[in-house]
Amino acid sequence: EKGGYPSFMEKEINDQPDAVAQTLLGRSDAQGKLILDELRIDETILRSVDKIVVLACGTSAYAGQVAKYAIEHWCRIPTEVELSHEFRYRDPIVNEKTLVVAISQSGETMDTLMAVRYAREQGAKVVAICNTNGSTIPRESDAVLYTHAGPEIAVASTKAFLAQITAAYLLGLYLAQLRGNKFGDEIADVMADLADMPAKIQSILDNADKVKKLARDMSNAKSVLFLGRHVGFPVAMEGALKLKELAYIHAEGFAAGELKHGPIALIEDGQPVVVVVPSPNGRDSLHAKVVSNIQEIRARGAVTIVIAEEGDTSVEAYAEHVFYVPKTPTLLAPLLTTVPLQIFACELASAKGYDVDQPRNLAKSVTVE
Ligand code: M6R
Repeated sequence: EKGGYPSFMEKEINDQPDAVAQTLLGRSDAQGKLILDELRIDETILRSVDKIVVLACGTSAYAGQVAKYAIEHWCRIPTEVELSHEFRYRDPIVNEKTLVVAISQSGETMDTLMAVRYAREQGAKVVAICNTNGSTIPRESDAVLYTHAGPEIAVASTKAFLAQITAAYLLGLYLAQLRGNKFGDEIADVMADLADMPAKIQSILDNADKVKKLARDMSNAKSVLFLGRHVGFPVAMEGALKLKELAYIHAEGFAAGELKHGPIALIEDGQPVVVVVPSPNGRDSLHAKVVSNIQEIRARGAVTIVIAEEGDTSVEAYAEHVFYVPKTPTLLAPLLTTVPLQIFACELASAKGYDVDQPRNLAKSVTVE
């Protein structure tokens, strides 16, 4: 049932092109118009929401953070992302005009379930993004957008993460379509770009040897830092979480712009730092800023490991190791840049002899508070 792979995690990493394809399947017409029949919430309500609150924990919360960038850009609806357990124990502002998006692979995470109950009590509508048919969170929500990643067995979430991001894009595009913020063509263009993602993910999987070799060479690392900006920031945090969970190595993800506000003090000779570089074709000057971050940390002795877009040779002067991912629009890049980080953590943990499917102290679904 591991499909010939040594672990469920490796199988699930390799299932990702299919997980994304299945999540897209049947959710748009030939013109790229979104059809989300399962979103059974009155359209007038969806048109009038004035705030979106995404609630989730762990990896699912990082999917939520990626969703925030996309939804705010496409829909112009203020979007917050909050950890479910933090949300519940303050006095959050949610009402009939709030759309809550609860993201949970298992659909059984107690913290997220309690947050959903609370939000509904306040009159908010709740859409669940969930991978498990008939689980509790979808049952207690107003609507559900299933991720069709297939069962995820390994404790560390991989294919569910990419499927959650995909589903969140679909939700954002649907709301944009419904509210008339974007016209047909633009939405259809993003849908066409999304349709290309499974093949692009596959090409990263087909070229995984280099990242695997680096992971094995680094199995004695004591700490690894991850930097990213814009949608690369949640990707950096996800890369760090994978490494903590699987390899029991101290790892932290930072927003690259935050470096000089503190974290750069951590850089000393030999400190490995993974940097997720935005596309040089993206907006503003983010690419140049992140490249100069790489230069700064390299000058202080960091071993720089860079994830960049194919053709972006500007990173090579400052990178010890570069891993290229196919060109893609900035907002969709997490579907690609996450993959080498998953492979890195999985391979490094395996090299240390750890059980990547069942890391110590962790459960697949956290059904207690
Ligand atoms: O089932 P859920 O998506 O609600 O689970 C949320 C987190 O517990 C989960 O993502 C956890 O962080 C994973 N171990 C990450 O790999």
